Amino acid sequence: MDKISVQLLEGVSETLLFTLYMRYRESIRPDGKVSDKRYFDLVKSIDFDFSTFDEIPEDMQLSLACRSVIFDNLTRNFIKIHPEGIVVSLGSGLDFRHERLDNGKIVWIDVDVPEVTALRIAFFPETSRHYSISSSILDFSWMNKIPKGLPVFFIAEGLLVYFTPNEVKSILSSISRIFKGSEMILDAYNHWYINAAKGSSPSPFLNKMYGMWKWGMDDWHEIEAFEPGIHFLEEYYQYHGFGDRMPEGLKAALSGEDAYSEREQEVIRTMSRIGHIRLGG
Ligand SMILES: C[S@@+](CC[C@H](N)C(=O)[O-])C[C@H]1O[C@@H](n2cnc3c(N)ncnc32)[C@H](O)[C@@H]1O
Repeated sequence: MDKISVQLLEGVSETLLFTLYMRYRESIRPDGKVSDKRYFDLVKSIDFDFSTFDEIPEDMQLSLACRSVIFDNLTRNFIKIHPEGIVVSLGSGLDFRHERLDNGKIVWIDVDVPEVTALRIAFFPETSRHYSISSSILDFSWMNKIPKGLPVFFIAEGLLVYFTPNEVKSILSSISRIFKGSEMILDAYNHWYINAAKGSSPSPFLNKMYGMWKWGMDDWHEIEAFEPGIHFLEEYYQYHGFGDRMPEGLKAALSGEDAYSEREQEVIRTMSRIGHIRLGG
């Protein structure tokens, strides 16, 4: 079978290949935090030189896999409570969370740019309960296409960092005004990491990706301040899932063993995290 071209992906959309490949690499470890043959199937079917990611350190794949597990768990909880609700996965790339979590009743909508949804459909055919909306998240008319009157759960994994602070505010505020009582899970890096990452990697791909990062957040109150209806519910940290694969430097910094000040420890602790928020009151 001919491999599927990803030539149309560029800029931010190309970053989906990175998250996919990192999870694939994790999935082939005997002790992988994620395990699913579909990672292998996707990577083998895509016409792209994935060796460009060979030099990327293992803690990156560990972190992305642990992030994915947390997103899965939170989404699974929502589906358990609202088995006939709606999940809207924003900037879903080639993630196949629907295939992992579908309960046979939920409606699942992936929103991504047209070149990505075309690719997604080539791998995962649409159904009446699982389909894509081809649109930039910034063209808010996609919101009109989401069925109303049912509980809605938004997923924004590896997405918001690519928008400016004003754009993030505008996206979350609009969702909050239109989807009252909805929930969202999202990940965020702190400002320190957004700046420190730039130009820091030996990998040209990573440096290009870091160069596109625009939005960081130090405190969930920054998100609550966007709009009165936005409320922080809970947060999670990828490194809680690292177990005995926690990098030594991180372990030392978090435990306070090393020569880090309290402030530095806090910056390291909050470098990357996942939040669960309620929107629209
Ligand atoms: C780093 S990838 C993450 C993909 C997926 N969520 C994952 O975790 O594997 C970023 C995704 O956001 C999408 N994206 C970026 N900007 C977007 C925009 N303005 N509108 C819709 N999707 C966007 C990209 O096309 C890509 O699929």
